Amino acid sequence: MFVQNILGIETSCDETGVAVYNPERGIVAELVYTQADHAAYGGVVPELASRDHVRKLPGMIREVLDRAELQAGDLDAVAYTAGPGLAGALLVGASTAVALATAADIPAIAVHHMEGHLLSPLLEDNAPEFPFVALLVSGGHSMLVEVTRPGHYQLLGETLDDAAGEAFDKTARLLGLGFPGGPEVARLAEQGDRERFDFPRPMVNRPGLDFSFSGLKTHTRELVARQSPDDYADIAAGFEQAVVDTLVIKCKRALKQTRLERLIIAGGVSANRRLRAALDQALPGQVYYPRLSLCTDNGAMIAYAGWYRRSEGTTDGKVAVRPRWPLDQLLPMASVDGQTGDGKRET
Ligand code: KG4
Ligand code: ZN
Repeated sequence: MFVQNILGIETSCDETGVAVYNPERGIVAELVYTQADHAAYGGVVPELASRDHVRKLPGMIREVLDRAELQAGDLDAVAYTAGPGLAGALLVGASTAVALATAADIPAIAVHHMEGHLLSPLLEDNAPEFPFVALLVSGGHSMLVEVTRPGHYQLLGETLDDAAGEAFDKTARLLGLGFPGGPEVARLAEQGDRERFDFPRPMVNRPGLDFSFSGLKTHTRELVARQSPDDYADIAAGFEQAVVDTLVIKCKRALKQTRLERLIIAGGVSANRRLRAALDQALPGQVYYPRLSLCTDNGAMIAYAGWYRRSEGTTDGKVAVRPRWPLDQLLPMASVDGQTGDGKRET
């Protein structure tokens, strides 16, 4: 199937993302709107998220098409996040995408949000070759995945409780910081002493590649209760370092276990500068990550993953979302199966 301009729509959580991807031109235009209403609640309120997507999405699609100097009729496919995520929020993107695709008589492609994250480092000039290990760390997921080729994902380990981003968000709340917590904790941590408080390094002494972050949260809560706000920077720094150290140890272990040489990191927490620096130091020349704007939720990664799965697009007008959708249940890719290419090839 000849697909040139593909529109990507992301609405799984609190970011509305829209982008056009073209295999010849890369990301042609993109916009991300981050909903601000949730900050007052310290977490994403599903109903507010859905309503905000409804308000924002149509205008953002218009704006992205204008910036790309395209008409709706120039699109060859519309990709949308079908899951995992908040059901109502997903439905806004899915129904908009299917309506647009049906009107334009082009395929609508249901994309797995984490596959979008996982493929996002391939949008960069120094894209890794397959196979590789992927560390996916976002607000809802933390997992290590063995990626032999596009669409072939084997789960190596995952969090047994909180996701890494969730741990950052909860710690931010304990420290009286805003939402999302990751960037705020990281900012405060820059002024702190990483070694003053002794944080546990969860699960590192146990074999295997699973994570656990809820113990860190409990430890932080107890520290906050004992210390004064003057100590919060040191607490933030100690917490961040504990998460970073744990992730680095698990990534090294995953490479060793799989005997693979390349690691990609993606998802919101991969924007963390300390994590990037620590991985670069521990695994020099082996670590790949997307630019900061592609780490957190965005439409470009959905358009790009949709391009990979372009031959799976449907024109039946059915709106389907999967709020729970394990990554390793994804089908191998029909369009690129058997090739280990860089994703820039047309089939
Ligand atoms: O991938 P993402 O945008 O949304 C989900 O799919 O969940 O990830 C959002 C998560 C939030 O928990 C946020 O606190 C975290 O990523 N995050 C960070 C940083 N930037 C975002 N965590 C640590 N350091 C950061 N710089
Ligand atoms: Zn995400």
